Amino acid sequence: MLLLHRAMVLGLRPTCRLRLTSSRLCIRACSTDDSFQPQHPSLTSSGNNSSTRGWGLMGTLLGLGAVLAYRDRCCRAAQESPHIYTREDVSSHRSPETGIWVTFGHEVFDVTEFVDLHPGGPSKLMLAAGGPLEPFWALYAVHSQSHVHEILAQYKIGELRPEDKAPSMLETFDPYADDPQRHPALQVNSQCPFNAEPPPELLTENYITPTPIFFTRNHLPVPNLDPDTYRLHVAGPPGGQSLSLSLDDLYQFPKHEITVTLQCAGNRRSEMNQVKTVKGLEWRTGAISTARWAGARLCDVLAQAGHHLCETEAHVCFEGLDSDSTGTAYGASIPLTRAMDPEAEVLLAYEMNGEPLPRDHGFPVRVVVPGVVGARHVKWLGKISVESEESHSHWQRRDYKGFSPSVDWDTVDFDSAPSIQELPVQSAITEPRDGEMVEPGEVTVKGYAWSGGGRAVIRVDVSLDGGLTWQAAELDGEEQRPRKAWAWRLWQLQAPVPPGQKELDIVCKAVDDSYNVQPDTVAPIWNLRGVLSNAWHRVHVRVTS
Ligand code: MTE
Repeated sequence: MLLLHRAMVLGLRPTCRLRLTSSRLCIRACSTDDSFQPQHPSLTSSGNNSSTRGWGLMGTLLGLGAVLAYRDRCCRAAQESPHIYTREDVSSHRSPETGIWVTFGHEVFDVTEFVDLHPGGPSKLMLAAGGPLEPFWALYAVHSQSHVHEILAQYKIGELRPEDKAPSMLETFDPYADDPQRHPALQVNSQCPFNAEPPPELLTENYITPTPIFFTRNHLPVPNLDPDTYRLHVAGPPGGQSLSLSLDDLYQFPKHEITVTLQCAGNRRSEMNQVKTVKGLEWRTGAISTARWAGARLCDVLAQAGHHLCETEAHVCFEGLDSDSTGTAYGASIPLTRAMDPEAEVLLAYEMNGEPLPRDHGFPVRVVVPGVVGARHVKWLGKISVESEESHSHWQRRDYKGFSPSVDWDTVDFDSAPSIQELPVQSAITEPRDGEMVEPGEVTVKGYAWSGGGRAVIRVDVSLDGGLTWQAAELDGEEQRPRKAWAWRLWQLQAPVPPGQKELDIVCKAVDDSYNVQPDTVAPIWNLRGVLSNAWHRVHVRVTS
């Protein structure tokens, strides 16, 4: 809530504006920024009479002086003796007719004009209308950024009276208080909701990522579900019966176990951010991990509910049991053809690496869709239905889609692009790290490589000279089944450091069995959400002398 992308922020940053609200004429609170740009017709007048021009200019300056003086007076007044409101005053301003007020701490803001500009949509901001922002900002921690506070400051109209300043239970309520404990080795990209990745040097230590350091990508607080009362609702076909499956019911289906690599669409987003700012968490190379997953096959469960493949387009929609303050759950969908294909091995997984799923990874049941972007592997699965359209979830329709580098936040049309499903070929170097010193003689380069859609990695090329010459790395890990290569290959190369070389530009690129190869640079694949970042991975090291 109240998050603007930068372009909007700049457009909205006048320091002190005269404005007319439905209720009154008021001066917006001032920022310390002095970029006030008056627009006065006489300054652009094309009149040729110099004395008229002189008077015009003088008039302009006087007018400007008066405005600035008035603005200064107002700013000082707003700081020195803020208008005092009660909580009742605030709560009586919750509609466009009355004006829309909110509080943050002891300050009162009139955000009537901002509601339509709210990037999360007006309806989300309206939830806080007439009350405190804290409970909502606690849920969407993206608001704890200085520029969001700066924007809010522009809408300040006063303060709460002293007896109304004490925070209510609602304001101090922390929806993340019940989140599970995490491993300290994880590099945290956001605490609330929790998003973290393993450090590169641990990521490729093991073919199967140890569960405690498996990357975590949460959009909301982690639900705490009781396995005894847990039920998975599977909607039946029209006229058919729906299923309500307990965990014991799920255990009755044949148990299927596979090794699957899961990668977030935003893996390596930080490299796109270096080209041009993108919106999203700054994942480095660790939004990817591999586990042994076990559970019932989705095709078996759908068949039991009476579903079968149909001629017309259909999608299997999943809903999680994590939800935001409006009760909206995380959701996603995959095509029915993939869900019903036994060879696609889509799982309703209840085990990860031989143990019940941990809470962060979807306890008690999550979807695992081999070869497909992490966003479709819905955790804390509550509901499955078969629909003629893709899931209407924000994360299916308004996120996790790719666009041309020329598309920006003003021109983007999310309906014009398909949702990401199978991911492109990917590889990254995990050792040595960028900026590290390496010994002369021999260098060991390590990393991972993976491709979506079950395509096997057939080769990883490594260069020590920025891509002029290449050597094939040795591939490790499980044998890859044709069209079912769901898991990554780890790879390494031991190569002599050319004598006298002071620096190395190490680069890797993988090739899959459709001969897809990674693009060499980031700029041509840059996109405003920073997804699908799979350019050659590069690290620069210095050789000790
Ligand atoms: N499922 C639910 N219910 N809620 C979520 O926030 N995040 C999705 C997916 N499933 C998510 C979810 C995303 S974007 C990714 S990349 C994967 O879960 C991450 O799975 P992990 O946290 O087990 O690594």
